[in-house]
Amino acid sequence: MAVAVNACRSDIDALHNRPDGFAVRAMIARRKSSSAMQTDFHRIRRLPPYVFEEVNRLKAEARARGEDIIDFGMGNPDMPTPQHIIDKLIETARDPRSNRYSASRGIKGLRRAMAAYYERRFGVTLNPDSEVIATLGSKEGFANLAQAITAPGDTILVPNPAYPIHAFGFILAGAAIRHVNATSPEEYLRGLDRAVRHSVPKPTALVVNYPSNPTAQVVGLDFYKEIVAFAKKHEIWVLSDLAYADIYFDDANPPPSIFQVDGAKEVAVEFQSLSKSYAMPGWRMGFAAGNKTLIAALGRIKSYLDYGAYTPVQVAATAALNGPQDCVDGMRAIYKARRDVLVESMARAGWNIPSPPASMFAWAPIPESHRDGGSLEFAKQLLIHAKVAVAPGLGFGEYGEGYVRIALVENEHRIRQAARNVKKFLSLRSNEHPCTPELMK
Ligand SMILES: Cc1ncc(COP(=O)(O)O)c(C=O)c1O
Repeated sequence: MAVAVNACRSDIDALHNRPDGFAVRAMIARRKSSSAMQTDFHRIRRLPPYVFEEVNRLKAEARARGEDIIDFGMGNPDMPTPQHIIDKLIETARDPRSNRYSASRGIKGLRRAMAAYYERRFGVTLNPDSEVIATLGSKEGFANLAQAITAPGDTILVPNPAYPIHAFGFILAGAAIRHVNATSPEEYLRGLDRAVRHSVPKPTALVVNYPSNPTAQVVGLDFYKEIVAFAKKHEIWVLSDLAYADIYFDDANPPPSIFQVDGAKEVAVEFQSLSKSYAMPGWRMGFAAGNKTLIAALGRIKSYLDYGAYTPVQVAATAALNGPQDCVDGMRAIYKARRDVLVESMARAGWNIPSPPASMFAWAPIPESHRDGGSLEFAKQLLIHAKVAVAPGLGFGEYGEGYVRIALVENEHRIRQAARNVKKFLSLRSNEHPCTPELMK
């Protein structure tokens, strides 16, 4: 805080020349006490160092040296947003009234389009006024609902490994997290049961996310039936993250919604995202649907925090949901082709990766030869020696250790190149690519 004290030096000097010594000393004491200002903020303290940061730093350094890194690190869709959606954005932005504050819950036409999507895709009827709310991406909706429904000290059941906001949305809200092993959906169900029996106070909410980020696992309706029955029995809210609803590769088995289970609306809310289905990640548009009490709670928090997405974004999102859906089929086909190239070419390189049934990720066990070092070390070595960036499984929680996540965000040609690099890397004897200490810091 030296800067703050120095900045006040001239007023303090001026005050020193005044006769009222007591006031001067009090003033100096106050100013000096500013040097003990709290900087160890409670919420920031609860956010641990970002596990992905080390890999990101190495990636940035390699790029600064001019190296071409094939980047499977982040689930950031690389496809262009379909043209008719962009056209609608531009057309609406030309309307001079479109610059005004919009509706925090989403304009009515958008909420209707969201409800119509549920009817079309899942055969689920939603009231667009009370059971649907637009969000600034599903992540924002999830985090703000966590704020809305959590009291400090509440216990929340969260899958592990998981997309980080599932735990941190609640951690930021002051909750205590009970991490439940989600290495498979069956393991998760068993763990939920154990967790409820051993948690005091009784958990307030649980999180489900299928197709899963990062494991890419999927579930059928039976899973949701068990979750709904469990939640009703123990009076626990369910937050279902269905961000990958439309990124699936088995046309006969598209991922279901929890609301296809009778009575699910009594206990659940579900999050949807336009980021992946329509390649609109930067547009920040998603929505929450389901239980009226939860939707109202989220709406109330949001009404204090935001004025809704920019109206042209909302109108364009409406066009995305109501318009031709062949662009979504196209997106799915691209991910599927990339998945197949990844699995086949990596297998040829000596790395057997299970073929993901859905999502935009492959959840890859670390090759036997490199398992001992763990996922962070393996991710760093891949980056340095194969010029390939992946996300270490540990970054998704302790049960993610032993895996890395590969996002299908590079084209087929670059995936093949990555596999060639990986092949060379894996074929080196381990003493030929020791972890160089300077690089490993
Ligand atoms: C499971 C899951 N939920 C939510 C999100 C966030 O999506 P959005 O862009 O809608 O905030 C992601 C993004 O990667 C995700 O993987």
